[in-house]
Parts: sequence; structure tokens; C-alpha cells
Amino acid sequence: MAVESGACVVYEVTDYHPGNRCQDLIFGVTRMVPGKVGREFFMTRGHIHGIADRPEVYIGKKGRGLMLMESPAGETRVIEIGPDDICYVPPFWIHRSVNIGNEDFVMLFCYPADSGQDYGIIARSNGMKHRVMDDGKGCWALEENPAYQTRNRDDIKKLLGEAG
Ligand SMILES: [Fe+2]
Repeated sequence: MAVESGACVVYEVTDYHPGNRCQDLIFGVTRMVPGKVGREFFMTRGHIHGIADRPEVYIGKKGRGLMLMESPAGETRVIEIGPDDICYVPPFWIHRSVNIGNEDFVMLFCYPADSGQDYGIIARSNGMKHRVMDDGKGCWALEENPAYQTRNRDDIKKLLGEAG
């Protein structure tokens, strides 16, 4: 899968699907080019797993990036990832990767094969709560997204699989 911005491919994903059962693992590689839109670093579309309690593991191979994670209740966590760093995305966390370097950011990933992806969760909140921006001093900084819509209690319960 390749995702484009204008005429250029921003990131591409190549993976192996052995099947669709939770006992199988999808394994692959993601590559994102460096760049920014305004001051915001290039990022993946981001998602929560369609079966939200499925986790994922990422392993940095090349470049410098971040995993931007958000809980259904709106807590943000950021993990920096460089070559050979391992990032565990726990069950129920929305996740998106960001290239904060000046070269391709490449990671391996692995997750249960029945996980699926819900990309709409970010759109329904008008984006993630935080954006990863160039701070103008050679580093990155989190900035609050003023358009962010907090999820209501019922939506959070539904995501967590709790009875309403
Ligand atoms: Fe995922």
C-alpha cells in the first residue's frame, strides 16, 4: 500500500498476511520519506485496530521517528524510535508514526492477523489530540490540536468493549 501527498509517495507498507486468524501474525515493513506540511512532520494516517484489544510491535531499522499514541480517553504518549529500538503499542491505543529526521524512516512491524484497522477514529475526533511539529531549533515539539473533539463516555466504553 502506498499513500500519496500531492505527487509524491509519503509512505508505503509492504506486508505478509499468512491468514486472518488471531493465531497468525502479519509482519511487514513501513517506509516513510522525510518532509513536513508547514511545520508538521510527515506522518502515517494512523488508526486503532478494528478489534481494539490487539497490540502491535514496531522495530526501528533506519532513520529517526516517533510513535504518537493516544488512548480512547485522550491521553498522549510518544516513543522515539531509531535503529534497533523496539516500540510496543498496547491494546486499545490509537497509533501513528512520524518521520522527524531528514532521511527515510523505516520500521518493521508485527500484529495479530485478525486485528484490522479503523482509520476513521482519528477523523471522527478531527485529528489526534497532539500534532508533532518542527520547533524551529532542530527538534520536534508536541502541539495541541485546537480542532480535537474529545470522545464521549459511551464511545470510550464501546472501544474498550465494556457493557454500555
Ligand atoms: Fe496498527
